[in-house]
Amino acid sequence: MTELIKQISGREVVATDLTHRHLLVVGQTGSGKTTTTLALLSQLQRANQTAIIFDPTGEYAKLPNATTYRLGGNAYLDAGSLSADQLLMVLGLAGDGWLKEKVSTAITALRIQQNVLASTGVYQKRDRQTREFESQVAKLDDWTSGYDITCLADQLVEETVRPYTDERANYRMLGQVYDRSVINSHWDQLVTLRERLNNKGMRQLFGTVKTPGVVKTELNFVLKMFLAQPSNHKTLVLDLSALKSFGAGQQMVISVLLRRLLEDRLAKPGHFPVSIVIDEAHRYLPSKDEDLAANGIFQILREGRKVNLAMVLTTQSPLDLPAKLRSQFAGALIHRLTTPEEWAALGLTPLDVQLDTGQVLVIQDGQEVTSGRVNLPDWWEGGQL
Ligand SMILES: Nc1ncnc2c1ncn2[C@@H]1O[C@H](COP(=O)(O)OP(=O)(O)OP(=O)(O)O)[C@@H](O)[C@H]1O
Ligand SMILES: [Mg+2]
Repeated sequence: MTELIKQISGREVVATDLTHRHLLVVGQTGSGKTTTTLALLSQLQRANQTAIIFDPTGEYAKLPNATTYRLGGNAYLDAGSLSADQLLMVLGLAGDGWLKEKVSTAITALRIQQNVLASTGVYQKRDRQTREFESQVAKLDDWTSGYDITCLADQLVEETVRPYTDERANYRMLGQVYDRSVINSHWDQLVTLRERLNNKGMRQLFGTVKTPGVVKTELNFVLKMFLAQPSNHKTLVLDLSALKSFGAGQQMVISVLLRRLLEDRLAKPGHFPVSIVIDEAHRYLPSKDEDLAANGIFQILREGRKVNLAMVLTTQSPLDLPAKLRSQFAGALIHRLTTPEEWAALGLTPLDVQLDTGQVLVIQDGQEVTSGRVNLPDWWEGGQL
């Protein structure tokens, strides 16, 4: 088997040694990060090391022996795995106070409709006894998070019901009439919400677009199943290229998936090691330091090691990463960098020469251990260069 790196100097590096702790793959665009990561993954497969790739561009589909799920194709995200706030963030409506207040009660109502009443459409609140509603809420639990997100805007209308304001008022009911003034004053928000939910990308994300003949699997479920037992030389690729147009929304989706994965692992003992690869990680990281603690990537970097999760992150410049996050990596594969500031951000002095495409410097615990050229995997089109 070809080694990972054709050395120029230093000692031989073994892929599993590099990925045993968090690893950063860094270098300017076109310098070879994705190719190196593919070569690394090939080696991990041979070593029977389980790996999961969050692939923002669809470039990892070519990896042999990969099980691929494509968001918007054969995979979707259960809207029920997002909180109301997270959902509004994905929809780009996080700043709206009224929606923030009402969406979570609307989701509860839709969960009752689907899981307790086993019915479709909106959950009618008008003329509904409060006690009946309360006993239905009590039946909700972790297994009943699913709901029909396509009904969300209509359900928000239902959330405005009020008792009559005259002697006909019955305060044992959730409401008897719609509050037309509230509906009117928030009509624009409702229209926007409807539009966002109807957006093609959003329908792909939540699996609400029907494709005849295509069986879709929920992403959290895919991850859970894949992590239920060690893989047999297999790698899981989650193609997330459909998220490209989502801006901050894609951050939220990745963050939610990773947090769930970490929680699942923390809840169960006895873990086999798993590498989590995130290409172009800067797309998924918050720009503000204060948002870092809640981010799934950061949480795995900080807590993943105790449950045998190690990350491989690729990004173009170390300056794309918040300093707090940079310090979590034990090793780095450094490709071509452009400025002295980028070297300094990694605690290194710049090289005298520029690295060619595919050339790397291997750093472990702040020290250079090897430099050389990454060998293309045997299956690479056209073979070795
Ligand atoms: N080790 C290598 N040997 C030979 N060719 C390579 C090597 N690494 C990369 N290349 C070639 O260089 C080109 C760019 O590589 P790659 O896509 O991996 O860069 P990248 O750093 O991931 O870029 P981007 O930031 O744009 O995603 C590819 O066409 C690839 O085939
Ligand atoms: Mg790349």
